[in-house]
Amino acid sequence: MEINKYHFVCRNCGNKIDGFPQWFNEGQKCSACNKNWVDVKYSNDYLKLPDLINNRAGHPDSLFHYFDYLPLVDRNNIITEGEGVIPVDRWKFLEEFAYQYYNLEITVLAYRNDTNPGTGTFKDVAAAVAASVLKENGISDYCVASTGNIANAFAHYLALAGISLSVFIPEDALAANEAGVGCYGQRVFRVKGDYSLAKHLCAEFSKKHKIHMSGGNIDPARVEAKKTQVFEWLRQLGYVPDVYIQALAGGTGPIAIHKGLEDIRHLKLFEKEPRYVLIQASGCNPMTMAWDQAKKEGFSEGWKNRFPILEHPLTRIPTLANGNPQTYPILANLVHSTEGEFLTFNEELHVDVARLVAFETSVRIGPAAAIAVGGFFEALKTNTLRDGERVMINIGEGMHRAPELLDKMRYTTQNVATIEECLPSNRNDYRHQLYASFTP
Ligand SMILES: Cc1ncc(COP(=O)(O)O)c(C=O)c1O
Ligand SMILES: [Zn+2]
Repeated sequence: MEINKYHFVCRNCGNKIDGFPQWFNEGQKCSACNKNWVDVKYSNDYLKLPDLINNRAGHPDSLFHYFDYLPLVDRNNIITEGEGVIPVDRWKFLEEFAYQYYNLEITVLAYRNDTNPGTGTFKDVAAAVAASVLKENGISDYCVASTGNIANAFAHYLALAGISLSVFIPEDALAANEAGVGCYGQRVFRVKGDYSLAKHLCAEFSKKHKIHMSGGNIDPARVEAKKTQVFEWLRQLGYVPDVYIQALAGGTGPIAIHKGLEDIRHLKLFEKEPRYVLIQASGCNPMTMAWDQAKKEGFSEGWKNRFPILEHPLTRIPTLANGNPQTYPILANLVHSTEGEFLTFNEELHVDVARLVAFETSVRIGPAAAIAVGGFFEALKTNTLRDGERVMINIGEGMHRAPELLDKMRYTTQNVATIEECLPSNRNDYRHQLYASFTP
């Protein structure tokens, strides 16, 4: 199939690849240099984008509103449930907090990926595009290693496309994640080890059975899908936020945002790239460790390639348990060049965060999203945020990803036997206690 709409360019050697047909044929790597990080280029140079984000092209019903800038040729192959066009809420309670305790006047935006219709995480967009791409390329078997959410989203969307999926999850993955894959008839391999072992076995499985494997954080389908969030911000807000906060495992989010912005720089639709403030959970924070060390050493020669590898990280947030951060050099570059930060949030407090958010907004967030919101408090504490900034927090997942968390969110229960014990209460009385973990 000759494609005119898009092609890949190898980021290592510049080799031109004729899109996904050639990519899959050649084992998802550049045949000239064997590397697997490519840039997806579109022949019409985003000329339609200004119309798409001005809503002149009609209100979007999914991220495929941006079909012209996705690596897909035939609209008939689109697999969608309406993901990717999600609200950007304003969370004034965090603005007020920042003002009261840190004297900062900032705007706080919550990017509500928990409202995605597939599985309620920001992996839905990636999975919808991946499923569509696989369908278009006649692929009927696929495999992926995952700490949880990407597996769920792929299981869901590939099932919609009639594609069989084998999922490799680490032994500590949440039961709800395993169930969320298995319920669609997709195969789960729960490995006796951590995410690194899951990735290793998945790669072996892929080789042995000649089944294509998801390319991880730099997979072109995933990056192209997540890139569309930039277009949505421009459409909904008219600007790109000054700061982007996300819970971090492998970092597809920032990689994709950067790619989206680079793609459209010539259109002059935004002023500057956001400062990436990326948050790791305290139980698994190799990137923050590497960054803190680099800072101490004054970012000395070769710092971007120095990072620890944590064997069997122990964390309460298994979704973020990526102990071997192979994407660190890419992310370190993005964080450094935008004057961002890698921060660690004390994961013991993730339930407190989730309670506070539910109290103030009625939004029930999942554990990984709680790390992102917790990272906002950490950013305040470390003077990372600047007066006047518009700060976006990626609410990457909703509560139903982790029923265990909901279970821990009870705090108002009183056991009673007689009517005398049942007194009316005022929910505002909880407010002080809910903020206690975060007030300086
Ligand atoms: C809700 C949520 N936030 C953040 C992350 C981390 O994403 P990334 O791997 O792109 O860093 C994940 C990964 O599964 C996630 O599900
Ligand atoms: Zn190459």
